[in-house]
Amino acid sequence: MARGSRKVSVIGAGNVGATCAFVLAQKKIGEIVLLDIFEGFAKGKALDMSQGGQVLNFDGIITGTKDYADIAGSDVVVVTSGFPRQPGMSREDLIGKNADIISQVGQGIKKYAPDSIIVMVTNPLDLMTYHMQKVTGFPHKRVIGQAGILDSARMTHFVADAIGCSNEDVQAMVLGGHGDTMVPLPRYTTVGGIPITQLLSNDEIDAITSRTANGGGEIVKLLERGSAFYAPGSAAAIMAESILNDRRRLLPCSAYLNGEYGMEDIYIGVPVILGKNGVERIIKLELEQIEIDSLKESGSFYKEQLKTILGY
Ligand code: NAI
Ligand code: 2OP
Repeated sequence: MARGSRKVSVIGAGNVGATCAFVLAQKKIGEIVLLDIFEGFAKGKALDMSQGGQVLNFDGIITGTKDYADIAGSDVVVVTSGFPRQPGMSREDLIGKNADIISQVGQGIKKYAPDSIIVMVTNPLDLMTYHMQKVTGFPHKRVIGQAGILDSARMTHFVADAIGCSNEDVQAMVLGGHGDTMVPLPRYTTVGGIPITQLLSNDEIDAITSRTANGGGEIVKLLERGSAFYAPGSAAAIMAESILNDRRRLLPCSAYLNGEYGMEDIYIGVPVILGKNGVERIIKLELEQIEIDSLKESGSFYKEQLKTILGY
């Protein structure tokens, strides 16, 4: 990696933020700044990761801070600051506390990294992504949410498990909001190019889609404190990498819709091409009526929450 060639800042040095930074470090992506309200926490994790560089063969600069001036010049800012859910909580239960945190973080990004592309992770994801765009006033294509990569990865894992094959050969597609209304799409889920509808029974597919939709809750219950972070942090890193390296990967992400899929003024999970400008293009899938209805139902749920809770 060329030192200082590109810069990514990760706001929130907790479980998801630190995992994301560590994955990015191993991808030799550029300079990494970890920012947290607890400065020692960010600095300590940055130092610990830096010391892992020799072991894992990376040598980029990783620093910790609580000062937004240090994120200046960031190409990408990944936002993970906020409360995770605890057993018994839905993602939407986090709305009030996390909206305040996002307002504060958004002001810092707007001031010190005005040209950056923001990858949102904080829950409830689709609502916080909408809120971040409003706080910063950045173009919609430069504020994108991570959810679909994680939800699709969960579905991929369950499919691979059911078939007894490698995760690597499974491609899954989960659209919609990052919550109970998410829309797993078995018709667009393949193993080595073969639709799973030809490989698994309807009952097996139903069990997989239901476990996918409850995938986050299943882990919250097992952990008993906090929520998943290895797969979520890695998923956010993959988005940052696609943007920083202009890889133009086609990934399901929470993107702003302005008429696409029959929805307007909402952030929701759809397939996009992610490149150096952020969302380069929204991909329009051909959906059956029942799939479109599920997607719109998911959109209506979040639209209502935006209005009633966040006042948009
Ligand atoms: P965590 O509690 O381990 O880390 C959160 C960090 O944010 C803490 O270190 C905290 O000090 C920091 N923080 C709080 N307020 C801040 C502020 N104003 N400025 C800077 N930093 C601040 O939580 P975890 O597990 O890392 O989760 C973070 C968020 O990501 C949660 O909202 C969680 O629900 C969400 N999440 C989203 C996923 C997705 O797919 N979109 C998946 C997993 C988690
Ligand atoms: C997850 O899906 C809690 O959103 C987080 O694991």
